[in-house]
Amino acid sequence: MSVKKKFLDYFASKNHLIIPSFSLIPLNDPSLLLINSGMAPMKKFFLGQAKPPSSRIANSQKCIRAGGKHNDLDDVGYTKRHHTFFEMLGNFSFGDYAHQEAIDMAWDFLTNNLNLPCEKLHITVHPSDKKSLEIWKKTPNVIHDNIVFEKENEWSAGEEGPCGVCTEIFYDHGGHIPGDITQGDRFVEIWNMVFMTDNVFNGVKTKLDKPCVDAGMGLERMEALCNGTNDNYEAPFFANMIKLISKNDIDNINNRIVADHSRSIVFMIDAGVSPDSEGVGYVLRKIIRRAIRRSINNNSIEICIDYIINNMSNDYPSLLKNREKIIKVFHDEKMQFLNVYNQGICKLNDYIDQGEIDEEKVFELYDTHGFPYDISFEIMKEKGISYDYDKFEKMTKKQKEFSKLKKYHVESKNRITEFVGYDCEKIESKILDIQKNDKTYILLDKTPFYVESGGQKSDSGIIETDSGVFEVEDMQKNDHEIWHIGKIIKGSIELGQTVTAKVDNIKRKGLKQHHTATHILMSILRKKFGNSVLQKGSSVKEDSLRLDFSMNDLIDQDSLKETTMEINRVIQDNIEISTNVTDYESAVKQGALITEKNYPNEVRVLKIGDISTELCCGTHVRSTGEIGLFAIKSHKSVASGIKRIEAICGMSAVNYYLYSEKQGKLSKSDDVENSAKSINRKEIKISNLNILIEQYSNANAKYLLGESDKYIKMHDLVILTNDKNAILVKVGDKIVKDAAEILRNIGGKGGGNKNLAQGKIEKINFNDIIDKFMSESEGMI
Ligand code: ALA
Repeated sequence: MSVKKKFLDYFASKNHLIIPSFSLIPLNDPSLLLINSGMAPMKKFFLGQAKPPSSRIANSQKCIRAGGKHNDLDDVGYTKRHHTFFEMLGNFSFGDYAHQEAIDMAWDFLTNNLNLPCEKLHITVHPSDKKSLEIWKKTPNVIHDNIVFEKENEWSAGEEGPCGVCTEIFYDHGGHIPGDITQGDRFVEIWNMVFMTDNVFNGVKTKLDKPCVDAGMGLERMEALCNGTNDNYEAPFFANMIKLISKNDIDNINNRIVADHSRSIVFMIDAGVSPDSEGVGYVLRKIIRRAIRRSINNNSIEICIDYIINNMSNDYPSLLKNREKIIKVFHDEKMQFLNVYNQGICKLNDYIDQGEIDEEKVFELYDTHGFPYDISFEIMKEKGISYDYDKFEKMTKKQKEFSKLKKYHVESKNRITEFVGYDCEKIESKILDIQKNDKTYILLDKTPFYVESGGQKSDSGIIETDSGVFEVEDMQKNDHEIWHIGKIIKGSIELGQTVTAKVDNIKRKGLKQHHTATHILMSILRKKFGNSVLQKGSSVKEDSLRLDFSMNDLIDQDSLKETTMEINRVIQDNIEISTNVTDYESAVKQGALITEKNYPNEVRVLKIGDISTELCCGTHVRSTGEIGLFAIKSHKSVASGIKRIEAICGMSAVNYYLYSEKQGKLSKSDDVENSAKSINRKEIKISNLNILIEQYSNANAKYLLGESDKYIKMHDLVILTNDKNAILVKVGDKIVKDAAEILRNIGGKGGGNKNLAQGKIEKINFNDIIDKFMSESEGMI
């Protein structure tokens, strides 16, 4: 018989009315976004605002803890027992029984019905709760030494509502597991009885008319326990789900998170929630995004959704009815998010690799690219990079007040600037507006200056009048207005003057070469590797290009050489490039490559002979010969299923072939990774714990991280350093101390979490670290 059935049968036999789960969405309760406990939907009964159908009730309630007072989102995957969605078995008394009967039933059910050994059960009591203490002491077979006071034992569902002190029952999974009753996986809380006596409203506490009992037991923890494990994910429901998405890799954090989050996704959509930018819809969106980031295979979440519906619809039949809807809502959100995600993750990884990531970069990714900041922070946390969330929040607030998410604060009054830069690089034009603060902003009626879009960087150049010269450093588009941002370098410039606007033609030439080359590269990749290769992001500068594209495996050296050869052949053939502006439908008819969902009705089609047809608003060379020469500088993987090529054209490529050490050798870009060398390695053993300490030269932080992932499988503690003073500490399950604490003990500066910490170490060298371990031994770990 299932644990759920045993529980409900037991409490039915104790005269409880068994009721179904309430909805996950609170009814008339603005203090909660989602039901987070068995008692939450029954607040009105506790408060005497409605009459309960019975003074004794029991049920199994759907709950989600992913925000607010009880938020387990960040623990999921990292512990064996936390979930976002879970079911809470609960028994409730509304002015009926109190401490004695509640404790008697809990003990009776656990020890006589589930047959848990009494000596394994530990009890916490609030220091003020003399009643519970006396009852526990008199309860037969309770080990008195297993009763401890816990001053945190007060409980309420949110910041307001019914509350009271509580007494908890923990199960001891055994001394071989690290942890005590306050932390770790050894003692798992399986039952909590809250003696509801008060109501908090607007910060004021008032007594409830009748004291009540709210007792809760997490179903998943009990199921794990009844299956002989302290790990919820090892119990059959989760283990079988994880088997479907991986080779039974239950220990993998990603698999745990995907399995857990999929249940929240299924049950939230079933409850009628749609992804949104605020409120409960935002909780769903956040969970979907976090799950997508963790799903190793493209369709892991879909597999889990299917499994959950099939295996939970007996208890929750609406899942079957809503199957199509659940799949569709998830799929639509996934498709919309993947675009943003794939581009954002590449940028984020770049910043991390280059050691540039900080709150400002997270803000930039969020602000300009829509990349979720919680994912950035989560990744930083995993990599042991510290951050100041308050600083980030201040930036968001400032930005909201300051401007409409634009880089520069220039006010738009809906004037129109005509862009004439496709046909010329120099033009006479009129100043429509000038604004000044830290920089000067000039608005023209016509301009040849291109504003960054579609990956191509903005032009620079000068604006001249009879009275002065203005240097254009940056550009911004506000609605139809094109603003030139920079400084007056000579004389003065006045509103209404006629100007000559002149684009820096050397930079423009580089931009054109690299942009056209990006299109050719894309088409050759599709030709060689198939139409599943799609553009996932690009950056076109005057001296380099970067193309991210969907592809599972890295391209081998020979194929990279062939690709280079073919592109240079297209250049040699000097193929003419043509453009036409047309409507979207006829662009599709012309065979344009469509990669995004939303295009405006009027589009610009760019054709490179019959090599490539794409929609593009960038500036391009007139025929491929102008590109001169093409060279691939690097090729690497930037995210799962996304590869990157960095390349150069024209004189930059000539220089590269002439002077680069790698002349003609096309290799993976991660030169640093390729040339990383272990210069010191020592394995030590302290009371059966295997510790690896290794020092590298030419290894960046990413490389150390990759190595630590490998080594931690065979060691309990891995400490890696490089010749730039970077240090990484990774700990396995057997180590009690947090990675961050060990890092500090060694003398490193930095941060991290339980399993991983990264930072810098200044004075201590390799041998010092080993000496420190040998001399302080267990104290260190
Ligand atoms: N409502 C109490 C809890 O969730 C029982 O712990």
